[in-house]
Amino acid sequence: MARRTIISGNWKLNLSVAEGVDLANALKDSAAASEAEVVVFPTALSVACVADACTDSAVAVGVQNIYWEDAGAFTGEASAPLAKAAGCSWVLIGHSERRQYFGETDETVNKRLQATLNAGLKPMVCIGETLAEREAGNLEEVLSTQIKGAIGDLSADQLKELVIAYEPVWAIGTGVVATDEQAQDAHAFVRSVVAEVLGAEAADAMRILYGGSVKPDNAAGLLGKPDIDGALVGGASLKQDSFNGIIDAAAAASV
Ligand code: PGA
Repeated sequence: MARRTIISGNWKLNLSVAEGVDLANALKDSAAASEAEVVVFPTALSVACVADACTDSAVAVGVQNIYWEDAGAFTGEASAPLAKAAGCSWVLIGHSERRQYFGETDETVNKRLQATLNAGLKPMVCIGETLAEREAGNLEEVLSTQIKGAIGDLSADQLKELVIAYEPVWAIGTGVVATDEQAQDAHAFVRSVVAEVLGAEAADAMRILYGGSVKPDNAAGLLGKPDIDGALVGGASLKQDSFNGIIDAAAAASV
């Protein structure tokens, strides 16, 4: 099945509201010209303004995290319905930095995933192993546990819009990118676990993105692999030249 490529930018804790709006505006032309879906994840403080700037453009906007309750006495949190009202269509869930620094677990990933789906938003769930886990030979066990934990009791029908981002922790922000083959092998394994849990049809349709030191010069090689359906980009998504370069690389990889 043909799976539409997604090029997404995780801005993390970077860029002011004005800088985010400027960058989003600077991505519109290449996003419009691209076959790929383009998504940016600004800080929670910027999503409303960036989404407003992206109205009627080919740039979609998401939040980097949500809480699983819709509203209430939860100081400091933001919810899926509020993200939707602010103009978001995507939610990033379970990024390794949230797992590492903010106590995210497979159980809370599952709760956030359910809340995202309940609000009618599209979830992008991040998984990935640490270097120690890979070196200990635990890659498959770690990925399998994370996928099954995230999915929980949700059905293939509920998860039609689910996107998985495979991000080896050792490749995030380090400049050490997984080789095309390492990434392809991990993606094929992720797809096999999805097939086991949700069935072959769901696995065939599911988009699995690679993340970890993606740059304009390595993107085409990664995106050319059969099970790599896009990229989740951190550092290189913060500058219009490099992010546009990756959007262009998606077109080069698909010909
Ligand atoms: P990086 O980050 O591209 O800077 O390695 C990727 C990510 O954390 O999503």
